[in-house]
Amino acid sequence: METVETDVLVVGSGPAGAATALALSTYGVSNVMVTRYGSLADTPRAHITNQRTMEVLRDLGVEDQVTAQATPQPLMGNTVFCTSLAGEELGRLRSWGNDPLVQAAHELASPSRMCDMPQHLMEPVLVNAAVSRGTALRFHTEYLSHEQSDDGVTALVEDRLRGDTYRVRARYLVGADGGRSRVVENAGLPTVGRMGVAGSLNIVFEADLAHLTAHRPSTLYWVLAPGATVGGIGAGLVRCVRPWTEWMVVWGYDLEAGPPDLTEEFARSVVHRLLGDDTIPVRITSTSAWTVNHLYAETYTDRRVLCAGDAVHRHPPSNGLGSNTSIQDAYNLAWKLKLVLDGTAAPALLDTYSAERAPVGRQIVERANRSIGETAPVFEALGVLATSDTEQMWRNVDARKAATPEGAKQRQGLREAIAAKVYEFNAHGVEMNQRYVSDAIVPDGTPDPGFGRDPELYHQPSTRPGAKLPHAWVVRGRERLSTLDLGGHGRFTLFTGIGGDCWEEAAEAARKALGIELVTVSIGPGQEYEDPYGDWARLREIGDCGALMTRPDNHIGFRHPEMSPRAGELLIGALRKILGHG
Ligand code: FDA
Repeated sequence: METVETDVLVVGSGPAGAATALALSTYGVSNVMVTRYGSLADTPRAHITNQRTMEVLRDLGVEDQVTAQATPQPLMGNTVFCTSLAGEELGRLRSWGNDPLVQAAHELASPSRMCDMPQHLMEPVLVNAAVSRGTALRFHTEYLSHEQSDDGVTALVEDRLRGDTYRVRARYLVGADGGRSRVVENAGLPTVGRMGVAGSLNIVFEADLAHLTAHRPSTLYWVLAPGATVGGIGAGLVRCVRPWTEWMVVWGYDLEAGPPDLTEEFARSVVHRLLGDDTIPVRITSTSAWTVNHLYAETYTDRRVLCAGDAVHRHPPSNGLGSNTSIQDAYNLAWKLKLVLDGTAAPALLDTYSAERAPVGRQIVERANRSIGETAPVFEALGVLATSDTEQMWRNVDARKAATPEGAKQRQGLREAIAAKVYEFNAHGVEMNQRYVSDAIVPDGTPDPGFGRDPELYHQPSTRPGAKLPHAWVVRGRERLSTLDLGGHGRFTLFTGIGGDCWEEAAEAARKALGIELVTVSIGPGQEYEDPYGDWARLREIGDCGALMTRPDNHIGFRHPEMSPRAGELLIGALRKILGHG
């Protein structure tokens, strides 16, 4: 039987697999990516692309390509609640960083902007870049099973065109094979939760809806249609794929009854019902049924098998976290694989992947499922849960217009219920605040002050080891760069300032002792980089002559508040610990 050899076998070409392959190839690691089908995602699926993901894409050199194709943030931001697109509007929520206050927070938090990048456009960007940098991509290739030995993994795959099987022998296998992951199953990773909590249908269609949407531009239009089946993700959803002509409807179905027969006629009737105008020409382009899941893996790895993406966190689309988290998993994993494969780090570094990412996966699964439940108060406020009589439901919805104390109470209740959906549609903290605790993070001995504000709503930058390096604009001559641009690029970076010479010397000693790529960055007046706004000085939480060291993923691995006669010893000790040698 034929055997293909590589360093890393990536199973799956979705956001998790494609981003893993891209990062590995960017770092010069040989990899083969296999994917079951003959094409990449052919429906829009994930779309909300948050700032942390855009920062990853920026570091991997594809941010501009994504921005060029994505719907920009200002067109995403009026989540509308209505009885149909042509019908009554019940309220709006400024979303996805478009509330003026949150807009400022987005601007301050990152050099990158959130955008709406449908998955069928995102995957080709990731995969093209991966392949152009060295990934060997095999379409029509299905992973079947694997065996591990002390020095590698051998996977059995099927060529679905030829109908035969062959082996791929790799040092590591990344299971990025989505929500029905066979890799996770074969590896026996322990999972918590369950699949199939509710049923949902996707209907993708083309229709010119500019007259119903362009004046209240949004990515999501929620249709609370009395009498409509309430299930799946809570109500009928009209999602913009491309403004204002390509769309997707998400519609719940009763899991016990099973998905309805997805005929074109049925799909068209659902679409027209949500549009509220059946004279609008609609071209259905695809339909599919899926289930809402509530499941996460407690650990992402089994020796040489490391899993990422929906394979290890399965949840509904609420908060738009799935593809984002998948790409961020990949970014966490790829540099660790590189350093272990080239012998710079011990295999123990790979244990920190699960330690750092599994808590994030669990958090987003819980958050996304909680967001579904938080839609119920909107229905309650409208009075549509109080009765099963459709006509009465409509009367209850109308009652909010009455000049009565009951009407006023209902209006107030509805405003509050819609405003509370901020935890789904504007949860900047959920997107940004990941702080890692693992053996690849060296604590600095200071007590953790925690978060001063609601950690789900508000991004709170910190330089505590484990946090992501805060973004600040600094300048080099006429060039403006983010601090995040100074770190990353697959290498460690040591940030210091005026008087931090001992850290520059320590970095030189560390490079010699450990053979790692470690660049030094000095920020301050007369230094290579200057901090004209003083933003960096406000954010860095160390003195001018202190040090912050970022890992290749721009998370802070080590910090020291000031100069130290033991700088070399401290820095080398920290790096040895991060690399799994200490
Ligand atoms: P994904 O399922 O995308 O990819 C799995 C890959 O593995 C595929 O390439 C598949 O062909 C391959 N594969 C599977 N089995 C295999 C085998 N045995 N052998 C070889 N290959 C195999 N997320 C988000 O961040 N923002 C958002 O706005 C949304 N919105 C959204 C809306 C809707 C309607 C849905 C259904 C989902 C979302 N999501 C989302 C979630 C998002 O789509 C999801 O989290 C990601 O696609 C997960 O990426 P993965 O790469 O992990 O799996």
